[in-house]
Amino acid sequence: MVEEFHRRGMKYILILMAAKASQLLTAVLCWFLPQDPGISSTSPTENYPPFDDGLKRDVFIKNVTGHILIGKVWPGPTAFPDFTNPETRQWWEDCIRGFHSKVPVDGLWIDMNEPANFVQGSMEGCPHTDLEDPPYTPRVVGGELNSGTLCMSAQRRQSTHYNLHNMYGLTEAYATNRALAKVRGKRPFVLSRSSYSGIGRFSGVWTGDVRSDWEQLRFSIPAVLQFSLFGVPLVGVDICGFEGNTTEELCVRWMQLGAFYPFMRDHHDNFNAVRSKHCFC
Ligand SMILES: *[C@@H]1O[C@H](CO)[C@@H](O)[C@H](O)[C@H]1NC(C)=O
Ligand SMILES: *[C@@H]1O[C@H](CO)[C@@H](O)[C@H](O)[C@H]1NC(C)=O
Repeated sequence: MVEEFHRRGMKYILILMAAKASQLLTAVLCWFLPQDPGISSTSPTENYPPFDDGLKRDVFIKNVTGHILIGKVWPGPTAFPDFTNPETRQWWEDCIRGFHSKVPVDGLWIDMNEPANFVQGSMEGCPHTDLEDPPYTPRVVGGELNSGTLCMSAQRRQSTHYNLHNMYGLTEAYATNRALAKVRGKRPFVLSRSSYSGIGRFSGVWTGDVRSDWEQLRFSIPAVLQFSLFGVPLVGVDICGFEGNTTEELCVRWMQLGAFYPFMRDHHDNFNAVRSKHCFC
């Protein structure tokens, strides 16, 4: 399929996305491809090279007692690569090289890299320390610093997750950019959900899961302009909105606006059946 795209002058950019091993197609496709940043630690057991190889090369974030921190993302229990470790970046490059030799993708879309976690901190929770419960907690989603992400006490090569949380996406974007440049020998295309100062050098950004409503269409304009100020020229917003049901009028107007986004893409979650009646996409 990708070769046919290329014959037609089209590009193919793949999301690093979770797969259930039981799904034959995705099992084949994802054989060597890591998932989100979260790497499935359980499926298929001892048969998933990114995890098994990553374990041997010691690339994953540890919890406070020095064991691999296991959280939960789309594939179920997952370990999280520590991109501040040079060995992790080499392992990531090897994974991408192996996959690219089978499926010659033109770029990678790195999602869930805040990093997002469906359990708070880890499957085992988090120890009660000053890092998890500092004297002052800003008004973050979920009310605690480890809500929807890793324990703040988690250990990475350079420092604790407390110190490095906001840079997770940046470090993944850097590793992905460098790996793609080496594997493909061309300027890479990377698209990241998480962002941080300096990421524009390595990746484009989209503004995440916006709602399908007029207010979000309106806010998308300052959002895109601000990212230009932040030094991220390649930026866009999910056209027609990501969450909730869009309407024909909203979708048409958003397409018209989106033509002026530097990165123009329609993207919507799976659950909104109404969309297909109104969109070409
Ligand atoms: C660290 O991970 C190990 C293995 O999953 C677990 O047994 C231990 O309780 C964890 N430690 C903390 C403090 O969460
Ligand atoms: C979207 O439309 C579907 C089908 O009509 C409906 O089941 C669902 O509740 C709607 N979602 C929202 C967020 O309104």
